[in-house]
Amino acid sequence: MRLDRFISETTGLSRKEASKILQRAEVSIDGVVQKKGAFKVPEDAEVLWNNLPLKLQGPTYLMMNKPLGCVCANDDGLHSTVFSYLDVPNPEKLHTVGRLDLDTSGLLLITDDGQWSHRITSPKQQCPKVYHAWLADPLSSDAISAFAEGLQLRGESTLTAPAVLEIINEREALVQVHEGRYHQVRRMFAAIGNKVEQLHREQVGALKLDTSLAPGESRALTAEEIALF
Ligand code: URA
Repeated sequence: MRLDRFISETTGLSRKEASKILQRAEVSIDGVVQKKGAFKVPEDAEVLWNNLPLKLQGPTYLMMNKPLGCVCANDDGLHSTVFSYLDVPNPEKLHTVGRLDLDTSGLLLITDDGQWSHRITSPKQQCPKVYHAWLADPLSSDAISAFAEGLQLRGESTLTAPAVLEIINEREALVQVHEGRYHQVRRMFAAIGNKVEQLHREQVGALKLDTSLAPGESRALTAEEIALF
Protein backbone atom coordinates (compact mmCIF):
# COMPACT_ATOMS: atom_id res chain seq x y z
CA MET A 1 0.00 0.00 0.00
CA ARG A 2 1.19 3.57 -0.73
CA LEU A 3 2.48 5.42 2.31
CA ASP A 4 0.00 8.33 2.04
CA ARG A 5 -2.93 5.88 1.95
CA PHE A 6 -1.41 3.86 4.81
CA ILE A 7 -1.22 7.04 6.93
CA SER A 8 -4.73 8.05 6.02
CA GLU A 9 -6.14 4.58 6.87
CA THR A 10 -4.34 4.33 10.20
CA THR A 11 -4.94 7.88 11.41
CA GLY A 12 -8.08 9.13 9.67
CA LEU A 13 -6.10 12.06 8.18
CA SER A 14 -6.89 13.03 4.59
CA ARG A 15 -4.30 12.23 1.89
CA LYS A 16 -3.51 15.97 1.76
CA GLU A 17 -2.85 16.10 5.51
CA ALA A 18 -0.80 12.90 5.22
CA SER A 19 1.40 14.58 2.53
CA LYS A 20 1.96 17.50 4.90
CA ILE A 21 3.24 15.33 7.77
CA LEU A 22 5.45 13.50 5.27
CA GLN A 23 6.88 16.83 4.06
CA ARG A 24 7.59 17.77 7.68
CA ALA A 25 9.71 14.56 7.94
CA GLU A 26 7.52 13.26 10.77
CA VAL A 27 7.20 9.71 9.40
CA SER A 28 9.82 6.98 9.40
CA ILE A 29 9.80 3.47 8.02
CA ASP A 30 12.09 0.96 9.71
CA GLY A 31 14.05 3.85 11.19
CA VAL A 32 14.48 5.84 7.97
CA VAL A 33 12.56 9.10 7.38
CA GLN A 34 10.36 8.75 4.31
CA LYS A 35 8.81 11.80 2.61
CA LYS A 36 7.28 10.20 -0.51
CA GLY A 37 3.55 9.51 -0.43
CA ALA A 38 3.95 7.05 -3.30
CA PHE A 39 6.45 4.92 -1.33
CA LYS A 40 5.16 1.31 -1.09
CA VAL A 41 5.03 0.23 2.55
CA PRO A 42 6.46 -3.30 2.94
CA GLU A 43 4.23 -5.88 4.74
CA ASP A 44 6.00 -6.01 8.12
CA ALA A 45 7.51 -2.51 8.13
CA GLU A 46 7.55 -0.49 11.35
CA VAL A 47 5.90 2.84 10.50
CA LEU A 48 6.29 5.60 13.08
CA TRP A 49 4.70 9.07 13.13
CA ASN A 50 6.54 11.28 15.59
CA ASN A 51 7.78 8.02 17.14
CA LEU A 52 4.27 6.62 17.60
CA PRO A 53 3.59 3.35 15.74
CA LEU A 54 0.92 3.32 13.01
CA LYS A 55 -0.68 -0.08 12.52
CA LEU A 56 -3.21 -1.19 9.93
CA GLN A 57 -6.21 -2.79 11.56
CA GLY A 58 -8.04 -5.89 10.39
CA PRO A 59 -11.77 -5.69 9.73
CA THR A 60 -13.90 -3.89 12.30
CA TYR A 61 -16.82 -5.55 14.11
CA LEU A 62 -18.73 -3.51 16.68
CA MET A 63 -21.92 -3.75 18.65
CA MET A 64 -23.66 -0.53 19.64
CA ASN A 65 -26.52 0.12 21.96
CA LYS A 66 -28.23 2.40 19.44
CA PRO A 67 -29.82 5.40 21.12
CA LEU A 68 -33.18 6.83 20.09
CA GLY A 69 -33.24 9.76 17.66
CA CYS A 70 -30.39 8.84 15.31
CA VAL A 71 -30.44 7.15 11.91
CA CYS A 72 -28.59 4.13 10.54
CA ALA A 73 -26.97 5.97 7.63
CA ASN A 74 -23.51 7.35 6.92
CA ASP A 75 -24.91 10.84 6.20
CA ASP A 76 -28.21 12.50 6.93
CA GLY A 77 -29.16 16.11 6.43
CA LEU A 78 -31.73 16.08 9.22
CA HIS A 79 -30.76 13.73 12.04
CA SER A 80 -27.55 12.65 13.72
CA THR A 81 -26.26 9.29 12.54
CA VAL A 82 -25.17 6.28 14.59
CA PHE A 83 -21.62 6.93 13.32
CA SER A 84 -21.49 10.24 15.19
CA TYR A 85 -21.36 8.11 18.38
CA LEU A 86 -18.18 6.32 17.24
CA ASP A 87 -14.63 7.46 17.79
CA VAL A 88 -12.85 5.55 14.99
CA PRO A 89 -10.38 6.82 12.33
CA ASN A 90 -12.49 6.18 9.20
CA PRO A 91 -16.20 5.89 10.06
CA GLU A 92 -17.16 6.34 6.39
CA LYS A 93 -15.69 2.87 5.69
CA LEU A 94 -18.18 1.26 8.06
CA HIS A 95 -21.79 0.27 7.52
CA THR A 96 -24.60 -0.87 9.76
CA VAL A 97 -25.76 -4.48 9.49
CA GLY A 98 -29.36 -3.79 8.54
CA ARG A 99 -31.13 -0.80 10.02
CA LEU A 100 -33.11 0.21 13.04
CA ASP A 101 -35.67 3.01 12.82
CA LEU A 102 -34.94 6.51 14.12
CA ASP A 103 -37.11 5.73 17.16
CA THR A 104 -35.85 2.18 17.80
CA SER A 105 -33.03 1.52 20.27
CA GLY A 106 -30.85 -1.48 21.03
CA LEU A 107 -28.48 -3.92 19.41
CA LEU A 108 -26.91 -2.62 16.22
CA LEU A 109 -23.97 -4.30 14.51
CA ILE A 110 -21.47 -2.17 12.62
CA THR A 111 -18.68 -3.45 10.37
CA ASP A 112 -16.63 -2.94 7.23
CA ASP A 113 -16.85 -6.65 6.32
CA GLY A 114 -19.51 -6.86 3.64
CA GLN A 115 -19.52 -10.68 3.47
CA TRP A 116 -20.08 -10.95 7.21
CA SER A 117 -22.98 -8.49 7.18
CA HIS A 118 -24.48 -10.24 4.15
CA ARG A 119 -24.52 -13.50 6.11
CA ILE A 120 -26.65 -11.78 8.76
CA THR A 121 -28.99 -9.81 6.51
CA SER A 122 -29.45 -12.18 3.58
CA PRO A 123 -33.08 -13.43 3.57
CA LYS A 124 -31.73 -16.94 2.82
CA GLN A 125 -30.06 -17.09 6.25
CA GLN A 126 -33.32 -16.37 8.11
CA CYS A 127 -31.31 -14.86 10.98
CA PRO A 128 -33.70 -14.35 13.94
CA LYS A 129 -33.92 -10.99 15.69
CA VAL A 130 -35.55 -10.39 19.07
CA TYR A 131 -37.30 -7.10 19.91
CA HIS A 132 -38.79 -5.90 23.16
CA ALA A 133 -41.97 -3.95 22.39
CA TRP A 134 -43.97 -1.67 24.69
CA LEU A 135 -47.56 -1.29 23.50
CA ALA A 136 -50.30 1.30 23.68
CA ASP A 137 -53.12 -1.21 24.23
CA PRO A 138 -53.45 -4.45 26.19
CA LEU A 139 -52.41 -7.62 24.37
CA SER A 140 -54.60 -10.69 24.33
CA SER A 141 -53.24 -14.21 24.02
CA ASP A 142 -54.85 -14.44 20.52
CA ALA A 143 -51.94 -12.33 19.33
CA ILE A 144 -49.57 -15.28 19.86
CA SER A 145 -51.32 -17.41 17.22
CA ALA A 146 -51.80 -14.40 14.91
CA PHE A 147 -48.03 -13.79 14.93
CA ALA A 148 -47.33 -17.52 14.49
CA GLU A 149 -49.74 -17.86 11.54
CA GLY A 150 -48.51 -14.76 9.68
CA LEU A 151 -49.99 -11.29 9.43
CA GLN A 152 -51.24 -9.26 6.51
CA LEU A 153 -49.30 -5.98 6.57
CA ARG A 154 -50.82 -2.97 4.83
CA GLY A 155 -49.68 -2.69 1.22
CA GLU A 156 -48.01 -6.12 1.13
CA SER A 157 -49.08 -9.08 -0.97
CA THR A 158 -47.68 -11.88 1.21
CA LEU A 159 -48.24 -12.73 4.86
CA THR A 160 -45.36 -12.27 7.27
CA ALA A 161 -43.38 -15.41 8.05
CA PRO A 162 -44.23 -17.14 11.34
CA ALA A 163 -42.99 -15.08 14.27
CA VAL A 164 -42.80 -15.92 17.96
CA LEU A 165 -44.61 -13.60 20.35
CA GLU A 166 -43.91 -13.95 24.06
CA ILE A 167 -46.17 -11.83 26.24
CA ILE A 168 -44.37 -10.34 29.25
CA ASN A 169 -47.39 -8.46 30.56
CA GLU A 170 -50.47 -6.71 29.10
CA ARG A 171 -48.43 -4.02 27.39
CA GLU A 172 -45.02 -5.61 26.90
CA ALA A 173 -43.86 -8.45 24.69
CA LEU A 174 -40.82 -10.04 23.10
CA VAL A 175 -41.09 -10.70 19.38
CA GLN A 176 -38.78 -12.92 17.37
CA VAL A 177 -38.82 -12.34 13.62
CA HIS A 178 -36.47 -13.53 10.92
CA GLU A 179 -37.61 -11.28 8.09
CA GLY A 180 -36.55 -7.69 7.68
CA ARG A 181 -39.52 -5.89 6.13
CA TYR A 182 -39.79 -2.11 6.42
CA HIS A 183 -40.92 -1.13 9.97
CA GLN A 184 -41.80 -4.79 10.35
CA VAL A 185 -42.47 -5.07 14.07
CA ARG A 186 -44.45 -1.81 14.27
CA ARG A 187 -46.54 -2.87 11.29
CA MET A 188 -47.15 -6.35 12.76
CA PHE A 189 -48.64 -4.83 15.89
CA ALA A 190 -50.62 -2.36 13.75
CA ALA A 191 -52.03 -5.39 11.86
CA ILE A 192 -53.57 -6.67 15.12
CA GLY A 193 -54.92 -3.20 15.97
CA ASN A 194 -52.25 -2.24 18.49
CA LYS A 195 -49.49 0.38 18.47
CA VAL A 196 -45.82 0.10 19.43
CA GLU A 197 -44.85 2.93 21.77
CA GLN A 198 -41.26 1.87 22.28
CA LEU A 199 -39.08 -0.70 20.52
CA HIS A 200 -35.70 -2.04 21.59
CA ARG A 201 -33.70 -4.81 19.86
CA GLU A 202 -32.18 -7.26 22.30
CA GLN A 203 -30.71 -9.97 20.10
CA VAL A 204 -29.51 -10.79 16.57
CA GLY A 205 -29.00 -14.54 15.94
CA ALA A 206 -27.37 -15.87 19.10
CA LEU A 207 -25.75 -12.51 19.90
CA LYS A 208 -27.34 -10.56 22.75
CA LEU A 209 -26.88 -6.86 23.45
CA ASP A 210 -24.23 -6.30 26.11
CA THR A 211 -26.34 -4.71 28.82
CA SER A 212 -23.31 -2.85 30.23
CA LEU A 213 -23.43 -0.57 27.15
CA ALA A 214 -25.30 2.67 27.80
CA PRO A 215 -27.27 4.16 24.86
CA GLY A 216 -24.73 5.42 22.29
CA GLU A 217 -21.90 3.24 23.60
CA SER A 218 -20.29 0.50 21.54
CA ARG A 219 -17.60 -2.11 21.89
CA ALA A 220 -15.60 -4.43 19.64
CA LEU A 221 -17.03 -7.91 19.23
CA THR A 222 -14.96 -10.80 20.57
CA ALA A 223 -13.63 -13.46 18.18
CA GLU A 224 -16.33 -15.85 19.47
CA GLU A 225 -19.06 -13.29 18.79
CA ILE A 226 -17.79 -12.61 15.26
CA ALA A 227 -17.73 -16.37 14.59
CA LEU A 228 -21.44 -16.70 15.47
CA PHE A 229 -22.28 -15.58 11.92
N1 URA B 1 -39.16 -3.34 13.15
C1 URA B 1 -39.53 -2.05 13.24
O1 URA B 1 -40.71 -1.73 13.13
N2 URA B 1 -38.58 -1.11 13.45
C2 URA B 1 -37.28 -1.41 13.61
O2 URA B 1 -36.45 -0.51 13.83
C3 URA B 1 -36.90 -2.75 13.52
C4 URA B 1 -37.86 -3.70 13.30
